[in-house]
Amino acid sequence: MPDLPEKKPYVSTHKAEEDPRNETLLYYVNGRIVPRSEAVVSIYDSGFMLGDGVWEGMRLYDGKWAFIDEHMERLFEAAKAIDMDIGMTRDQVKQAVFDTQAANDMTTDVHCRLMVTRGVKTRPFQNPRLSQQGPTVAIIMEHSKPSIPRPIRLATVPHLRGLPMTQDPKLNSHSKLNCILACIAADKAGADEALMLDIHGFVNTTNSCNFFIVKKGEVWTSTGDYCMNGITRRKVIDVCRAAGIPVHERNFSLVDTYVADEAFLTGTFGAQTPIGTIDGRQIGAGEMGPVTLRIRALYKELVARA
Ligand SMILES: Cc1ncc(COP(=O)(O)O)c(C=O)c1O
Repeated sequence: MPDLPEKKPYVSTHKAEEDPRNETLLYYVNGRIVPRSEAVVSIYDSGFMLGDGVWEGMRLYDGKWAFIDEHMERLFEAAKAIDMDIGMTRDQVKQAVFDTQAANDMTTDVHCRLMVTRGVKTRPFQNPRLSQQGPTVAIIMEHSKPSIPRPIRLATVPHLRGLPMTQDPKLNSHSKLNCILACIAADKAGADEALMLDIHGFVNTTNSCNFFIVKKGEVWTSTGDYCMNGITRRKVIDVCRAAGIPVHERNFSLVDTYVADEAFLTGTFGAQTPIGTIDGRQIGAGEMGPVTLRIRALYKELVARA
């Protein structure tokens, strides 16, 4: 689908190359693989109406879905946490992914958004008991090669990562309004993505990716409290440890961040995305630094081996 005309130039952390094959994709909706015109859900759907659902973003590289078992584990744990029965086994969900891939004749550089909501409600109200028809399972799978033309600009925003007892930010829930408001605030400030603090004021994560800095050869990321338990985040920590790169999950402030040598984002879509500026301060040389480059290579090797 062509990009919408842009009101002003901006760079998304999830920008992919245009690919004409995406005009004629097939989508999975509740066991059927259908063209876009039929890939629809009810206006009574719990996901549409209330953001009541969980999802996974996954990537296909060279015929293999990277870390698919970890994605299944996170999805099924999230579903259990919100007391939602997916109504399928992990293998059946994986099979739905493979079937959608085969129907679209896809082999590499593909992104998949796998969504499970509490399904169609009998009345347009919040109580989950009104969702009686079983879950809605839908898959959007697109040809997708990240194409981010320059390092990302971040702006710190007033929207915090919430406490676990409000809406645990570890959950990959459909309702992302806190993150969306953060992203809007960053956009208004002229940045591409929002840098979000935790309730203590420590630097935590961005609205759609996990956040790392590099200082004197050490890699720092937040403690993991208050942010999504990103699979890419975990793999970056693992590859650093395996390669002897010092890596710390710790609290750190904006002061530490502004003077970092490098900063980068992690997420399934873009793997590791360099950050050029934060709140108008250039980070390091303002481009992808040597440690980020090394981690990128190590991550790529891990994906190939996994
Ligand atoms: C808020 C947020 N942080 C981080 C991530 C990255 O997680 P992963 O590395 O598992 O893609 C996501 C992706 O869904 C996200 O929504």
